[in-house]
Amino acid sequence: MTNDKLDNSAMPTNLHGKVAVITGAGSGLGFATASYFIQQGAHVALLDINAEQGQQAMQDLASEFAAFFAVDVTDETQIDSTLATIVKQFGQIDICINCAGIAPAKRILDKSGKAQPLSLFKHVIDINLIGSFNVAKSVAELMAKNPIDSQQQRGVIINTASIAGYEGQVGQTAYAASKAGLIGLCLAMARDLAAHGIRVNTIAPGIMATPMLLAMPQPVQDALAETVVQPQRLGNPLEFAQLAQHICVNAYLNGETIRLDGGLRMAPK
Ligand SMILES: NC(=O)c1ccc[n+]([C@@H]2O[C@H](COP(=O)([O-])OP(=O)(O)OC[C@H]3O[C@@H](n4cnc5c(N)ncnc54)[C@H](O)[C@@H]3O)[C@@H](O)[C@H]2O)c1
Repeated sequence: MTNDKLDNSAMPTNLHGKVAVITGAGSGLGFATASYFIQQGAHVALLDINAEQGQQAMQDLASEFAAFFAVDVTDETQIDSTLATIVKQFGQIDICINCAGIAPAKRILDKSGKAQPLSLFKHVIDINLIGSFNVAKSVAELMAKNPIDSQQQRGVIINTASIAGYEGQVGQTAYAASKAGLIGLCLAMARDLAAHGIRVNTIAPGIMATPMLLAMPQPVQDALAETVVQPQRLGNPLEFAQLAQHICVNAYLNGETIRLDGGLRMAPK
């Protein structure tokens, strides 16, 4: 196809009128994305297990284009009924961004040589990996019913991994495995859903300035910032939101995990 046959005028540049489901939206990266997407003209369903944080997020957003749902991403029945309510309320779902996650640190063996309980490993995999899949597969079923848009697609799914999925540090076995699982899921899911016009991409952030990290003492934050190649600072949640927005409007991005880490390659600890 020559360039003059490409219809650039049909390419979207913002999210006007799109409906986005964002999990983990009560805090950090999910909240920043919800806020940015609303500024971009999207309607956003914020999902989070923490109802108090969700209500606070709604107050902060103060937008008629936002709605909060208190749900656990690991609960299939809850997710299915919440998504059905969202479709009733907003018409359809165009975008799904999975940000819900936890990051407990624990070595396999403690100082006395005792192994960690298996329940901890299972819990992290359950929320970070299985929870993301749970939401994505149910969203995909609904997206597949959307009319095809000007970019030959019906929807976009974005999962949030971590550079720990490549360079897991000491104490991060469960977290790193859950995030590596999401990285592995990405291309297979994109291939599975291609026939339905649904794209799937993954963002692997480095160290981002969310409440989790900002709660650390300043010297620890400064030391972390120094490990980043350029710019030497923590990532801004808005930078995550901007990348998510770009993935949504750029129809040629598919099946990819994109690092957002200022060039950081994490050391063992
Ligand atoms: N902040 C970072 O440096 C960083 C780096 C790499 C990856 N990530 C990933 O980005 C995502 C967001 O992280 P964040 O820093 O914004 O963390 P955060 O703790 O600020 O937000 C995570 C949100 O997920 C919600 N959540 C947890 N379990 C849930 C469940 N079962 N069901 C529904 N909601 C649930 C929490 O209530 C919280 O509001 C996570 O998946 C995290 O692993 C973060």
